[in-house]
Amino acid sequence: MSSFYALIIGASSTIAKAAIRKFEENSNCLGVFAVSRSLYVPTESTKTTYLECDNTESGISEVCQILAPVAGRITKVLICNGILHDESIMPERKLEEIRASQLEAVFHANSVVPMLWLSQLLPILQGDRNTQVALFSARIGSISDNKTGGWYSYRASKAALNMLIQTSSVEYARRAKNVKLISFHPGTTDTPLSKPFQRSVPKDKLFSADFVATQLLSIMEHVKMDNKAAYLDWNNQPIEW
Ligand SMILES: NC(=O)c1ccc[n+]([C@@H]2O[C@H](COP(=O)([O-])OP(=O)(O)OC[C@H]3O[C@@H](n4cnc5c(N)ncnc54)[C@H](OP(=O)(O)O)[C@@H]3O)[C@@H](O)[C@H]2O)c1
Repeated sequence: MSSFYALIIGASSTIAKAAIRKFEENSNCLGVFAVSRSLYVPTESTKTTYLECDNTESGISEVCQILAPVAGRITKVLICNGILHDESIMPERKLEEIRASQLEAVFHANSVVPMLWLSQLLPILQGDRNTQVALFSARIGSISDNKTGGWYSYRASKAALNMLIQTSSVEYARRAKNVKLISFHPGTTDTPLSKPFQRSVPKDKLFSADFVATQLLSIMEHVKMDNKAAYLDWNNQPIEW
């Protein structure tokens, strides 16, 4: 593996933090850029540059200006943003629970924000080095796999993200042939996002963030560079779109 830079968007994510640790341990990784809405700089941070960004178009543009000097040398990108619940949001179990405000908030974090990054990162990622971009989706975003229903906003926002990734991959194939887009399902992982829903998950199906980060980095290293978007789970198994 030749030397590279890594970029992690949504760096406060528990899985993102585990991935940052792995990149910091990798001697081929020259540096990590970690972008988050709230600036958090762990004391043990060595080669990671922490950048604050509100994920607006102008905020993303400012970060891209900071990244410009290493354009073409960032070959590993993780876009981790996603919400399932917060103080005012819980996944909808039935039609009566549908609220415009919830649909809009969840679509914004899960579909709009990753897409804004994909849009503005194009010139930063263009080059001759094989580059992988993993966007955190979820199996629940698979339209063909929807057997149980419910979780309307989260499910639909991840399906929308998948379509945005597919559509972007057509354009990236023309304008940044060195880039592979991966829609990634981490599996149920022990993070604040899954906390309220872990009770029904068998112990061996609840993954640690460290395990998922290891799996993802290996998938990115070995994925086929074929100018097509891939929808892959933590075990490198394809998911039907
Ligand atoms: N944990 C699971 O079981 C599981 C399963 C399937 C898919 N996923 C997906 O994996 C990804 C990472 O999740 P995690 O489990 O590591 O969760 P987490 O620890 O709760 O991290 C939340 C992530 O979402 C971002 N975020 C939160 N609110 C946001 C908002 N309003 N606008 C934009 N970004 C926002 C955070 O970015 P900042 O650093 O900018 O705050 C952070 O990257 C998510 O996309 C999630 O949907 C997780």
